[in-house]
Amino acid sequence: MSNPNSEPLELFDHAATRPAARVQELRAQIERHNSLYYQQAAPEISDYEFDTLLRELADLEQAHPELASADSPTRRVGGKPLEEFAPATHIVPMQSLDNTYSPEELREFVTRVRKLAEGRSIHFTVEPKVDGVAISLLYENGRLVRAATRGDGVTGDDVTQNVLTISNIPHRLRGEVPAQIEVRGEVYLPKAIFALLNTERDEEGLPPFANPRNAAAGSIKQLDPAVTASRRLAAVFYGTGAWTGPQPAKGREMFATLQNWGLPISERILQGSDEDSVNAAVLTMGDMRHNFAYETDGAVVKLDSLALRREFGSTAKAPRWAIAYKYEPERAETKLLDITIQVGRTGTLTPVAELQPVFVSGSTVSRATLHNEEEIQRKDIRIGDTVLIEKAGEVIPAVVAVKKDLRNGSEKVFEMPRHCPSCGSPISKDGVAWKCTSHSCGAQVRRRIEHFASKHAMDIEGLGEALVAQLVDASLLKGIADIYTLDREALLRLERMGEKSASNLLAAIEESRSRPLWRLLNGLGIPHVGVTSARDLASHFHTLDALASATGDTLLTIHSIGEIMATAIYTWFQAPENRTLLESLRATKLNFGEGDTPSAPTDQRLQGTTWVLTGTLSISREEAAETIRRLGGKVTGSVSKKTTHLLAGEDAGSKLDKARELEIPIIDEAAFAQLCASQQES
Ligand code: IVH
Repeated sequence: MSNPNSEPLELFDHAATRPAARVQELRAQIERHNSLYYQQAAPEISDYEFDTLLRELADLEQAHPELASADSPTRRVGGKPLEEFAPATHIVPMQSLDNTYSPEELREFVTRVRKLAEGRSIHFTVEPKVDGVAISLLYENGRLVRAATRGDGVTGDDVTQNVLTISNIPHRLRGEVPAQIEVRGEVYLPKAIFALLNTERDEEGLPPFANPRNAAAGSIKQLDPAVTASRRLAAVFYGTGAWTGPQPAKGREMFATLQNWGLPISERILQGSDEDSVNAAVLTMGDMRHNFAYETDGAVVKLDSLALRREFGSTAKAPRWAIAYKYEPERAETKLLDITIQVGRTGTLTPVAELQPVFVSGSTVSRATLHNEEEIQRKDIRIGDTVLIEKAGEVIPAVVAVKKDLRNGSEKVFEMPRHCPSCGSPISKDGVAWKCTSHSCGAQVRRRIEHFASKHAMDIEGLGEALVAQLVDASLLKGIADIYTLDREALLRLERMGEKSASNLLAAIEESRSRPLWRLLNGLGIPHVGVTSARDLASHFHTLDALASATGDTLLTIHSIGEIMATAIYTWFQAPENRTLLESLRATKLNFGEGDTPSAPTDQRLQGTTWVLTGTLSISREEAAETIRRLGGKVTGSVSKKTTHLLAGEDAGSKLDKARELEIPIIDEAAFAQLCASQQES
């Protein structure tokens, strides 16, 4: 067909294709700079230039909604909060598993499967049962197009925006990929982060998460992706749903394929072929699981052959070829002797259970946080009760239940004090927390200084809880800034302070003056600001002064900063007492960031760790050592009490034995790779 008027058509064509090409180009550039920045720590452009690219892309996508895409870098962070989640129907429904609780039941399962196999040879994999939130990712031609929760197994919630903020989930798969695949796994909150998150929540008057699974569920179901991004979730994958084209023959090959595509898989996958070896593998997994980054509540035993899986099929509820073995939660019974109050650095009064010491999950517990008054009332915990203790997320001791049948009437109902137990000031309610209303409260001052000097902040070795208390009591420290005016004579007048300790402390304080800006930002104790957001703020603003004069809107453009945090940061920098604090710190010549290399993310999270490497690794020892050093850790040749981690490859020998003897955490290569990957990207 001829076109009598070619001009308008040409114009129309231009309008449609030029933005499309530019959008493609911008996405490619942004992905490249993201990788240079996060993976290679070698940025080529400034943050400002990066933001300009991102803004241009966002503007184009807004003007041309038909060009929007779920995996655009504009969706990765800072997307607008959603009103509600859209439903997402899985192509292949997500099944659940039957549970077993004893070696006998597990034997019965293996016997059942063997009968179904009618003489054919069978093998099983034994995997950790990750206690997180089930997730299904849909990749089309290698591109992540949708992420959905399990829901009722048929239809879940579309949580794509949030999943895009999880740093170990690839937006694109590597290598040869099927046209369409659903990948199944678990989103989890690393155990170590769970511990930090709950401490922060207590301090902020928010109810604690009972365990990492609840925390992960709460984080993935956030309507604001910035909140999800700030929670530092991770994911691990163990299965598939829809899969077009050829598939591997075995579960083990499926794992290797997922890994080759760039997806994180379980840290350890064991094997078994009969009742005895499967039971033994489940027992071994039970020991290993405490070293995994995620919490596990069991092991999953699966038939390895995918053809036999298809043949054996499912019952109405669960597949016949897989079963979960649930480990018993490690619990201990003890007496609640008293409930004391701890005053936090922002004044939060946290009730603490003082317990008859009891051994649980590898250590003796004599105190457990009770979080807040409402938590005590909800569980009806009374002084004198017999209580059950568990480690929430295998880390934090928690009172999980009260044995009410053992009460004899002498138990006392706990009453929150009406005044701050440290300084006597009135207290006021903030969320579920009671807070001391005085800013100069001695306990708060102590906690603020402890936090400032802690490992995750200015890392001043030797300035721990006991010494801070001593220095505050002697009026040598009234606030953070006083740390930098401490002198030798005053220190030597303290009890138990010798020449050597005083010199070491002064040297550690001196060393801390040049710490990177993010450490100072974390150390200042700005509400809601933790390590991740402090790093993001430092790499965006470069100097404390630039941050101090930032508006709420500017703050909101940053990775992991949502509205609540932006307001908290802005308000903190406006407060006169904080301005005074910053001026005092400036006068002590602390690094306010002026000398920092622009936008180079400094990842020092292995700082303070000392590693020994042993056995055969798939990478060279030197490469592994280099990674540890780059992340701030030390590497030494022999295992001693100073060793904090042993990286053990295949056929590890005497060093492994020595590490076991000294109860030093043993990290295998998979766990090490995961540790380094998540470290680099955070
Ligand atoms: S396989 C058809 N493997 O446990 C088999 N599930 O209680 C589907 N889970 O819904 C699951 N770790 O969310 C499988 N290694 C693992 C797992 C695992 C955790 C979860 C999953 C499942 C639930 C069943």
